Amino acid sequence: MRSDVAVLGLGQMGSALAEAFLRAGHRVTVWNRSPAKAEPLVAQGAQAASSAVEAQRSAPVVVACVLDYPALTEILDPERPGILVNLTSGSPEQAREMARRGGRYVDGGIMTTPPGIGDQRSMILYSGDQDALAEASGLLSALAEPINLGADPGLAALYDTALLGIMWSTLTGWLHAAALVTADGATAEHFTPLATRWLGPVAGFISSYAPQVDSGSYPGSDATLDVHLATLDHLVHASEVRKVDAALPRLLHDYARRAVESGHGADGWARIIELLRAA
Ligand SMILES: NC(=O)c1ccc[n+]([C@@H]2O[C@H](COP(=O)([O-])OP(=O)(O)OC[C@H]3O[C@@H](n4cnc5c(N)ncnc54)[C@H](OP(=O)(O)O)[C@@H]3O)[C@@H](O)[C@H]2O)c1
Repeated sequence: MRSDVAVLGLGQMGSALAEAFLRAGHRVTVWNRSPAKAEPLVAQGAQAASSAVEAQRSAPVVVACVLDYPALTEILDPERPGILVNLTSGSPEQAREMARRGGRYVDGGIMTTPPGIGDQRSMILYSGDQDALAEASGLLSALAEPINLGADPGLAALYDTALLGIMWSTLTGWLHAAALVTADGATAEHFTPLATRWLGPVAGFISSYAPQVDSGSYPGSDATLDVHLATLDHLVHASEVRKVDAALPRLLHDYARRAVESGHGADGWARIIELLRAA
């Protein structure tokens, strides 16, 4: 084994991972389908492997970060001797299937973009073979703060995709709000500091609702669904009047209306989980 770690896939993310390993002083082998992407890393001290299999046999820990699972499956060495840490995005089911193929397998979900790699404020979620993860953790801490979710290899991908769901919902909620305020002449830049400040209390609501979701009891002690429904009327109306797409507010309005019509108007917003689970 000539290196401490091999990185397969040198796209935007794979290159950032390899650079972070090099910056931390590790010996790094790199491989990419298009060999030219290895050159800047070789200039920083990495060793280029001439094939994916050679890379996988060059180090005790292999970090893979290619486009998707089909691409990963194409390049995996069936006799891979070391630990595979797969940072390629995929579904929990794909991660569990990969673990069933055997070998020492750790799955990961990167919760940042390439500039956040090497920054301990960023997090990477891991799950899978716990002994392998313990062996690789010193190395992996060069990338971001490692968050170990346990032995189920599907959990990192599940949390990853669930967290991305929060990101897309939040970003789209903000963009919808920006469409509303800019329709009346305000600017997104004027509005946005208030939006980001509002996310603080919203994060507080989430924390207080988590035990309600786990216990199945949703007291409307802060605001009832009756009140939410009346307020959502304003959001739908304000969107329609400004010819801003009202699909998102109508979806939210529909959830609140269905919960109220089922007799839960005195409960809080966390009651909506029951509708989401019943889909
Ligand atoms: N970018 C982000 O912010 C981010 C954040 C979290 C997670 N991720 C995940 O990280 C992974 C890589 O993303 P990226 O942003 O680095 O993408 P990218 O810049 O498009 O790189 C894709 C990589 O996959 C390789 N590849 C594609 N098809 C292949 C195949 N059939 N066989 C072998 N290699 C193949 C490409 O090789 P070539 O150079 O030869 O095309 C390249 O190295 C994805 O799963 C992505 O979801 C990315």
